Amino acid sequence: MRFSWLSMIVLPFGCAGNGDSDVAEAPTYWADVRPIFDESCARCHVDGGQAPVSFDDPAAVVAMATTIQAKIDAGLMPPPAPDPTCADYVDSDRYVLDDGEKDVIRRWIAAGTPLGDEADRPAPPELLTIAPFDVVVTGAAPYTPQFTGTNPNDYRCWAVEVGNEDEIFLTGLEAIVEHPSFVHHVVLFDDGASLLGGDDGWSGGADPNDADGFPCGGFGQGDWAFLHGWGPGANPIMFPDGYGVKLQAHAKLIVQAHYFNNGDVVPDNVGYGLTFAPQVDTEVYNLPVYPPNFDHVPAGDPDYTAGETFGLSDFLPVPLTISVLSVWPHMHVLGKGFDYYITHADGSKTCMVQMDGWDFHNQVPAQYLTPIVVPPDSALTLECHYDNSPSNPNQFADPPRDVPFGEGTEDEMCFAFTYAFAGTP
Ligand code: HEC
Repeated sequence: MRFSWLSMIVLPFGCAGNGDSDVAEAPTYWADVRPIFDESCARCHVDGGQAPVSFDDPAAVVAMATTIQAKIDAGLMPPPAPDPTCADYVDSDRYVLDDGEKDVIRRWIAAGTPLGDEADRPAPPELLTIAPFDVVVTGAAPYTPQFTGTNPNDYRCWAVEVGNEDEIFLTGLEAIVEHPSFVHHVVLFDDGASLLGGDDGWSGGADPNDADGFPCGGFGQGDWAFLHGWGPGANPIMFPDGYGVKLQAHAKLIVQAHYFNNGDVVPDNVGYGLTFAPQVDTEVYNLPVYPPNFDHVPAGDPDYTAGETFGLSDFLPVPLTISVLSVWPHMHVLGKGFDYYITHADGSKTCMVQMDGWDFHNQVPAQYLTPIVVPPDSALTLECHYDNSPSNPNQFADPPRDVPFGEGTEDEMCFAFTYAFAGTP
């Protein structure tokens, strides 16, 4: 079986300016600093992007130089991401600045932010995409989020038919999100799910002919099965060659958007771009791993951990080795760290995701370059760390209150959405 991420790896960053120790003269914006921003900032700091300021105009960047320095020094920008020394995952370099890159920015600011010559700007790296898509599923009409009373959350779903005559396999999923600034999540469900034996009708109030969709609180309804989740900062998932998630013939999918009232909402359209294969060698499953006893984050606690250790038998009916392709860590705004690891029978540990910080705006999935094997006699530990004190800059309650487990933006969650398959690669 061939295992290849080739189509996924887009790393033509070159070495221009990226921590080059032999930049003898003062670094310039175009030759040295802009390539770092193109690699690590531009996916959010563009016109219409999720960050409030665009880095497209160099004069604006220069005017912001001391703020940029402060955010980098504080480890706040780029926002925290899974630690690349924990596990090798696609594009990991892109989500952190190394010391060389920080030094280039520092010396550029110290030198008075010289622009240099735009002709010296290397070609920016491409953003990850699985395009061209085989199918795009989306609500047919733009939808204006509606908020009732003081509830800042609106959950909207659209029922969509894929149009497949036969069973097929999803090989890639890319959420299409027009306005990431007020979209808290997008989730793709399988209705009439292949996992549960299927049914002929739509469930949960779904009507594929309704372009306006329907209200749909909850973590899925009826027999919906979770296929994929997106949060701000997440990038597309593409499985290696030969792997895919099964969809039944005449698949019925539900696209769910969770809108959060940031005071700035406009008509919006969300959807998914999908790629398919008629057959795969290995079927992939999405395991939504979470600590079932997590009830709430206590008011005022600056260091609360919701966590659980699972034996594989908690998930699986029979002893089985599984291998993990990727993990999407998900918490809300009070998160401050995330740990997900395997403890083997001999006591040794394998890190899957480790984060010393957390920013709701940067929910990057770790897509492993090599699948991580979990033998049947090992245990999985998931720990989400929270700061519910007044000193958390993302604190929304004054004074802080108990924050329950729940799907609202001002509730908390702790999930490791784990794409895995049975056996070893
Ligand atoms: C995943 C998205 C994302 C990435 C990547 C990102 N930012 Fe940000 N940035 C944001 C968001 C969202 C905000 C606004 C909220 C905040 O300040 O935390 C922000 C705010 C900022 C601010 C404060 C702007 C102001 O006016 O207060 C600076 C400076 C900044 N980012 C610099 C950077 C730099 C430099 C990089 C790359 C090295 C970077 N950011 C990468 C999303 C991102």
